[in-house]
Amino acid sequence: MHGLAVTRDPGIKCFTLVLMRTQVGIVGAGPAGLLLARLLQLEGIESIVIESRTRKHVEERVRAGVLEPGSVDLMVQIGAGERITKLALQHHGIELRFNHRGHRIDMQELTGRSIFIYGQNEVVKDLTNLRLSAGGQICFEAEATALEGLDTTAPCIRFRTHEAEQKIVCDFVAGCDGFHGISRAVIPAAMKNEYERIYPFAWLGILAEIPPPCDELIYTHHQRGFALVSMRSPTISRLYLQCTPDEDLANWPEDRIWEELATRLATDDGAFHLHPGCVIQKGITGMRSFVAEPMQFGNMFLVGDAAHIVPPTGAKGMNLAMADAVVLAKGLAEYYRSADRTLLDRYSEVCLRRVWRFQRFSWWMTSMLHSFEDSNVFDRRRQLAELEYVVSSRAAATSLAENYVGMP
Ligand code: FAD
Ligand code: DHB
Repeated sequence: MHGLAVTRDPGIKCFTLVLMRTQVGIVGAGPAGLLLARLLQLEGIESIVIESRTRKHVEERVRAGVLEPGSVDLMVQIGAGERITKLALQHHGIELRFNHRGHRIDMQELTGRSIFIYGQNEVVKDLTNLRLSAGGQICFEAEATALEGLDTTAPCIRFRTHEAEQKIVCDFVAGCDGFHGISRAVIPAAMKNEYERIYPFAWLGILAEIPPPCDELIYTHHQRGFALVSMRSPTISRLYLQCTPDEDLANWPEDRIWEELATRLATDDGAFHLHPGCVIQKGITGMRSFVAEPMQFGNMFLVGDAAHIVPPTGAKGMNLAMADAVVLAKGLAEYYRSADRTLLDRYSEVCLRRVWRFQRFSWWMTSMLHSFEDSNVFDRRRQLAELEYVVSSRAAATSLAENYVGMP
């Protein structure tokens, strides 16, 4: 990073201009932005990451929990493997539960691969520590307010901190600022296509201080709605319930959450027990499928949730964000090595192939497992027939498993 001009008057709270120069300006310090910064650093490419929230907020934000084996391998390859290799829980299978009975999908046997449970906030902690300890920069509490000159060779990011209005001039901008960020919004409407489906339900998620009530994740289809049992560690569980999108959390006291989970997860043989415990965190997440095409405008590239959202049932959001960062880093590395833009110009096309594959998978898992208010008896019988098919046909189970464990 080169500071070209720094004027700062400690007496004035705002509106002093600080001008910086870097090769790649990265907006957002989620998994996409932090991974991209690390991959670029390994290629000797300079970047600055700006993040609107505090470090504590980003590191404590409870979100996704399932990592594909390819995402874990990547963390190890880039030098962020120390904690993940010790703490991630390796799972060889998942359970699909419906009609009060469990059916195991053995991913290891069907695909030779397995998945890992490791909180997104832990991925963010690992990548943040790695960047800062390697001397890289992350500006926290720095909100991007405008992106300018994106179709020129010197685009710039304007951002605001407590002390100053600042500006980064760069060669490329990476919009890693999530679904509600500004990067996608600044692309003129005529230059993008957006495809969207909003689902008529949401997930109420809790983090609870109870040992996981099962060894592997349980995805449950129940007439009262979907339920999911996941975990974070041998003492912390993560549980989700399908609810309405406009649900008020105040209507869900802890007793009601535990009761509803117990009802949806109950098995005919009475063997499944859920022992309520202290709820550390709870929240409601809306569900949508969304893709913006192309994932590029001039010299700005959209990465991760800034470009696409999947409903969480397929556990793909964080993995897709990481996969985009890898493709972009390769394109930028080739450009800086040989001034060849071929890979960079194919960024959107390459990412979108994976994105649409997992859009389909996430939509399919969501449709198969949730209850739809407007469904009729035919719809419900068809849904159960689909679940029966998936758990009784090796071909169908393999299709689920190979998508769940992801592409290399
Ligand atoms: P993000 O993680 O959203 O990171 C974007 C970053 O940009 C944020 O830190 C944000 O603060 C910052 N930012 C935004 N605007 C600006 C700005 N103007 N200036 C500077 N910084 C800015 N996926 C699953 O697979 N399973 C789940 O259970 C699951 N739960 C989720 C729950 C919630 C509430 C949300 C929002 C998402 C969830 N996801 C889940 C999706 C998954 O977390 C995302 O796919 C993943 O976070 C994508 O990473 P990202 O880096 O692209 O975006
Ligand atoms: C978790 C989240 C998911 O979206 C999912 O499909 C499985 C597990 C989790 O938070 O652990």
